[in-house]
This record gives sequence, structure tokens and C-alpha cells, in this order.
Amino acid sequence: MPPRLLDLFGGAGGAAHGYRLAGWHVTGVDIAPQPRYAGHEFHQADALDFLAAHGHEFDAVHASPPCQGYCTLTAGTNHGRTYPLLVAPTRDLLDRLGRPYVIENVPNAPLRPDVVLCGLTFGLKVFRHRVFELGGWMSLQAPHTPHRRHRVAGWRHGERHDGDMVAVYGDGGGKGSVTDWQTAMGIDWTADRRELAEAIPPAYTEFLGSVLLDQLPALAT
Ligand SMILES: C[S@@+](CC[C@H](N)C(=O)[O-])C[C@H]1O[C@@H](n2cnc3c(N)ncnc32)[C@H](O)[C@@H]1O
Repeated sequence: MPPRLLDLFGGAGGAAHGYRLAGWHVTGVDIAPQPRYAGHEFHQADALDFLAAHGHEFDAVHASPPCQGYCTLTAGTNHGRTYPLLVAPTRDLLDRLGRPYVIENVPNAPLRPDVVLCGLTFGLKVFRHRVFELGGWMSLQAPHTPHRRHRVAGWRHGERHDGDMVAVYGDGGGKGSVTDWQTAMGIDWTADRRELAEAIPPAYTEFLGSVLLDQLPALAT
């Protein structure tokens, strides 16, 4: 059995698919049913309850707590709703567990920005900047292509792109067909717009998961 990764707040498994490609055995947890989950196993449960009970059974943990409470992009559509802020309680439990971990979220979330990834770096058609806090290990390795500065309408810095990037956003904010979204994200196992809008491109976790897998023997000693 390859090393086991626990994927908390797994959704449809954008992160899970990347870890699979990197060589991990991936077990997902989500509070909602996820019939299209892309990891190897799935448990419907509260992520923190599952982590407290089973975290010690895994070699590493990834967590993608809901981003709505931290997200400026959806602040308008989310106005008046409240969302649980789960980054801090997730980190507390992970620090107590002592396994290497990754917490992923949007740029405004209260994470230490150890790694910030953008779809352009991986040749994707989404920007989708995401911040990754790494616990118990370090990724000093840059992704294979350096991050290029970029601009879309309304952006003020960097290189110009001719409108070929795809806006993959929930709550009616996105543009393009489902096929456009799938291609832009590198996801082909779900055509559900909400699942696509909540996912991270698997390329991000394939990159991080490969680096972590290489370090794992040294971390375990
Ligand atoms: C940002 S999405 C995760 C996306 C996923 N990482 C991916 O790449 O496809 C957050 C997920 O957290 C789930 N969620 C929210 N509260 C939860 C909780 N207390 N326990 C487990 N899952 C929860 C939601 O159902 C949602 O699927």
C-alpha cells in the first residue's frame, strides 16, 4: 500500500486527484455525500471529528476548509450569511497530531503563505490563486514553470492576456461552458458546476504531493 493521505473537506476531490497522481493512497472526508469523489476511499463525516478519531492512521493530512468566510470575491453574494471559520481549529488539531500537513485556502484566509500557486504556472486556463500552509515539512522547490505576472480586465499589474482565461466561480459569477471549466481546471470526472467551482486544480496537489512524498522517509525518522 502506498503512503496514506487523509483529505479533509474533500469535496469532489480536485485535491485528491492530484495526490493520487503523485502516488498517494487518498482517503477523503466531507460532511456532504460526494458520489463523484476522486480519491480511493470516502467517509461522510465532520472533518474535525474524523481527524481527532483517525488522524493517527495516516502518513499525512491535507485540509481545504470552506473558503466562503474568507473570500472577498463572493463577499457580495454571501452578504448576510455566516460561514464557519475552520482554519484555526483545523490547524490546532493537526499540530497536536504531529503528522506532516497541508492547509489550503483562498489568499485572504488566515494562513501562513508557505506556497502560493496559480493555474498559469501549470499551463492551466484559470488563475485560481491558492495559499498553502505546510506543517512539519517544507517545500523549497519551485513548481516546474515560474509564476508569470498576469492581468485580466481590471487587474493593474503585469503581462497582458487576451481574454483566454476561464472564470470558474460559483453563485452565478463564472463564465464559459462546463467543458471550458473542466478543461481549464484539469478535471474530467465531474460536470457539476458547484463541485468544479469549489475544487482546486489537481496540478497543485500533484506538485505538492510529489515533494512531500519524496521527503516522507526523512520525516518519519
Ligand atoms: C472548498 S470545498 C473542498 C474542495 C476540495 N478540496 C477539492 O479540491 O475539490 C469545502 C468542502 O468542505 C465541506 N465541509 C464543510 N464543512 C465541513 C465539515 N465540518 N466537515 C467536513 N466537510 C465539511 C463542504 O461540503 C465542501 O465540500
